[in-house]
Amino acid sequence: MNQTGRRKFLISSLSLMTAGALYPLHKALANTDEHTGHTGHTGHNPAPEKMNHGSSTHSTHTTNPPVSLLPVSALPKGLPLPQLPKLRNESKQKGKFAATLTAAKTQIPLISGMAATTMWLYNKTLLPVIEVSTNDSVNIRFNNHLQQDGTIHWHGLAVPAEQDGNPQDPVAPGSSFDYQFQITPQMAGTHWFHPHTHNYVAQQVYMGLAGIFIVRDPADPIAHIPEQNLFFSDLKLDDQAQIPPNDMMDVMNGREGQFALINGALEPQITLTGTQRWRMWNGNSARYLDLVFPENKVTAYLVGNDGGLLETPQKITSILLTPGERAEIALTPVAEQSFNLIARAYDRDKMGNPPPEQDRVLAKVMMKSGKKIELPTKLRTIPELGQPKVKRQVVYTEDSQMNFYINGKIYDMNRIDFFCKVGETEEWEVFNNSHMDHNFHLHGTHFLVTEFERNDKITKPSYKMLKDTINLKPYEKIRILMKQNHKGIRMFHCHILEHENAGMMGQLLAQ
Ligand code: C2O
Ligand code: CU
Ligand code: CU
Repeated sequence: MNQTGRRKFLISSLSLMTAGALYPLHKALANTDEHTGHTGHTGHNPAPEKMNHGSSTHSTHTTNPPVSLLPVSALPKGLPLPQLPKLRNESKQKGKFAATLTAAKTQIPLISGMAATTMWLYNKTLLPVIEVSTNDSVNIRFNNHLQQDGTIHWHGLAVPAEQDGNPQDPVAPGSSFDYQFQITPQMAGTHWFHPHTHNYVAQQVYMGLAGIFIVRDPADPIAHIPEQNLFFSDLKLDDQAQIPPNDMMDVMNGREGQFALINGALEPQITLTGTQRWRMWNGNSARYLDLVFPENKVTAYLVGNDGGLLETPQKITSILLTPGERAEIALTPVAEQSFNLIARAYDRDKMGNPPPEQDRVLAKVMMKSGKKIELPTKLRTIPELGQPKVKRQVVYTEDSQMNFYINGKIYDMNRIDFFCKVGETEEWEVFNNSHMDHNFHLHGTHFLVTEFERNDKITKPSYKMLKDTINLKPYEKIRILMKQNHKGIRMFHCHILEHENAGMMGQLLAQ
């Protein structure tokens, strides 16, 4: 693999480009793109967004011209919140979860009067739900019926590295792999899964591949509260109701489809009867969700996040969920009425002068009186990680050529960025040295956030914050404590999937 040669090629092919001259450049690139003929919408595979990292044979910033999109009104709205399909446990044995996930091209009739939409889905369904208990052993057969490599990454679960769908472990088209791992009590919580295939993460996710992974703990002190799952994702559809490949803006800023969905539905109607526990996932490629829970309508407590239950419930009136993050919220209606669940405009300083951000209605919540359930004051104890033995720095930067770096480098799957010792606590300082928000996700473990630093002001989290994904505002620094408990290679990256795909990812080797 010749990284230097490729970089030179990239730079020369992009040398025309400046932030102000994006449009001519993408036209020029489109002409050299072997996949450019994306006009017929015959349900063929969209062009992958090949980027310039790792061991691909040919590489360039291949992007596609913007296409005309369906209006948001093309999808029906206001239907009841869909219940996502549970993945069937094929095992009869107690304490075992065995199932099959087959990734394949699937035709889904989405828009009435138009051709069915070609999606890539697991088991021909959107967002299958895996539910296991702590101490279960899991065996999931992955059949890759796509025409490109695939993997499944278990986001939030500290499974052994070789079972975690790393880019180094592709499952070839037409073949299968059995992911096997043991669930432990520390894994209790609200997690998910999605491909982590080299060069294809962004595409495979926007084509539809993702699912929910809930680990239930028999000792969960709020297990008696009725639950709902809300998986936020988005969808971009062109005027033929097909999912177009990423264009230049998508690659720069992260893709935001025109449809912001919950469980695959547009502005669904959610019924909140008495106190409920909502598990929420930001499964968007790039869209930030600043969700508002108006105090005069609903009492909201954050009870869990990426790391599982918090130590104590935290009263909130809004929460920012960035791509990859999860939240568990206990909600109680103030009165029998309804309110719109809104994602407030959030300016993450996108490039290329996109239209100003706007508030978005994501759902209509109908409230009915029901059983009001008090929360315990203590949910659990999160263990300390002790004093760090090692300190490291992770610095995010960008350049005007759509390159996204960690410590000045683009991801290379053959390079180890950090060598870590299993069981040794480290302090990482993550610095977003760029003008736009990026978030930070780490595989293989959860980290404790200890400090935020912005504009020379240091603040500490107001509660013990165990996370695997966290946002960084422009020029913000955060400090985290972390420890890898298994050997192997683990990724860390921005979870705006186009940025990850463009190289804003590094890897550590724990040994
Ligand atoms: Cu959600 Cu590296 O992934
Ligand atoms: Cu992950
Ligand atoms: Cu980013």
